[in-house]
Amino acid sequence: MSAPKKLYIKTYGCQMNVYDSERMAETLGASGYVTTDTPDDADMILLNTCHIREKAAEKIYSELGRFKPLKAEKPDLKIGVAGCVAQAEGEEIMRRQPMVDLVVGPQSYHRLPAMEAKARAGEKALDTDFPEEDKFEHLKARPKAQRGPTAFLTVQEGCDKFCAFCVVPYTRGAEVSRPADRILSEARDLVERGVREITLLGQNVNAYHGAGEGGDWSLARLIWALNEIDGLERIRFTTSHPNDMSDDLIAAHGECEKLMPYLHLPVQSGSDRILKAMNRKHTAEGYLRLIERIRAARPDILISGDFIVGFPGETDADFADTMALVEEVRYGQAFSFKYSTRPGTPAAEKPQIDDDVASFRLQELQALIVRQQREVQESMVGRTVNVLFEKTGRLDGQMVGKSEYLHAVHVQAPDVARGDIRPVRITRSEPNSLAGELVT
Ligand code: SAH
Ligand code: SF4
Ligand code: F3S
Repeated sequence: MSAPKKLYIKTYGCQMNVYDSERMAETLGASGYVTTDTPDDADMILLNTCHIREKAAEKIYSELGRFKPLKAEKPDLKIGVAGCVAQAEGEEIMRRQPMVDLVVGPQSYHRLPAMEAKARAGEKALDTDFPEEDKFEHLKARPKAQRGPTAFLTVQEGCDKFCAFCVVPYTRGAEVSRPADRILSEARDLVERGVREITLLGQNVNAYHGAGEGGDWSLARLIWALNEIDGLERIRFTTSHPNDMSDDLIAAHGECEKLMPYLHLPVQSGSDRILKAMNRKHTAEGYLRLIERIRAARPDILISGDFIVGFPGETDADFADTMALVEEVRYGQAFSFKYSTRPGTPAAEKPQIDDDVASFRLQELQALIVRQQREVQESMVGRTVNVLFEKTGRLDGQMVGKSEYLHAVHVQAPDVARGDIRPVRITRSEPNSLAGELVT
């Protein structure tokens, strides 16, 4: 038997790309590949890319340039580009970087083995189709290897919302939900292999409506079914759209034992004028009342969000509305971005605002968000939380895990194993994590 070939995958972008990279590694495993942590000894390098902002996309070309000497040294090395840049700029990548052998869009990963064989035979392989068939049903099965305590599981892909700034509907295609029974069997398989926490993924995960027993299942119904799996201790989901936050899902946050008290619910802006121009189809007030209802169901829930500043036409007054909304919500965590013009999206056609103004607003917003994150973290001091331990820390005998609220927690706990869940009393809040001690 010949020695296995080595595959180096580098992942950019969202958690769905992380999940896809795992599945691509497994699929190529069937073609004789094992993964490696460095490009230096790889037989194939695969970049799983993100197109969401210009910087993310441009980075790929410089990253590819860095592999040039490797490729010169090792002519058999195959270089591939997957993910959303591949989908959006496939032909251009092939043109700009002739050393790229393979370009595969997110909907075609099940075709990777055939594409790899084609590339090995010295031909260029490019596939940015939107195939009829569901890639997840055709990807090779996971090998029965032991896993860490947490895993992602994509349940829904694509987006029909067409926010005016966003490339996702173009790179990932229309919204598709996977059948419930497939998700449940994949979840059971993950749990058998050591997983204790599953994060359900989708670009609009709460719009999930997969075929299940008795008709279409909602995300809440799926969560309740997952709640029944012995050995699975925690369920999370991301990313949600405010307009798909249904009553059963809100109720589940109050009633479902394994569903964690953390919700990532992006609003993007606090100005109704900008929300309208963004095609978000909800108002700031609507969002605030929704948060109220969610907090009524689960008072301690940690709310997280995403914001874009400097969207075309954003005035000082619009930005002030965003700051006011953030003040009112009190986020435990939030991500904010300067608007990035994406080719092919409606907002790209609009007059763009001054870059310095946008940068200034971003700084202000980020300062407010950091303040809120710190406040929420500090409110944890003195409380006892349950920590799912994921790995060893930097100090001797230290373990690191996550609380229910997704805060990283450092604990001196030499006898605790990966995958254990223990009560921990929080003693200190640090810039990006908490410290605590085991409750005995
Ligand atoms: N499906 C998710 C978000 C996917 S993209 C949702 O609807 O919430 C993740 C985040 O990137 C978005 O929430 C948005 O804040 C940001 N983003 C998307 N397009 C962007 C652009 N053109 N410029 C800047 N930020 C953008
Ligand atoms: Fe993009 Fe909007 Fe769809 Fe989210 S809901 S993926 S921001 S188009
Ligand atoms: Fe990026 Fe594509 Fe995810 S553009 S954020 S990798 S869906």
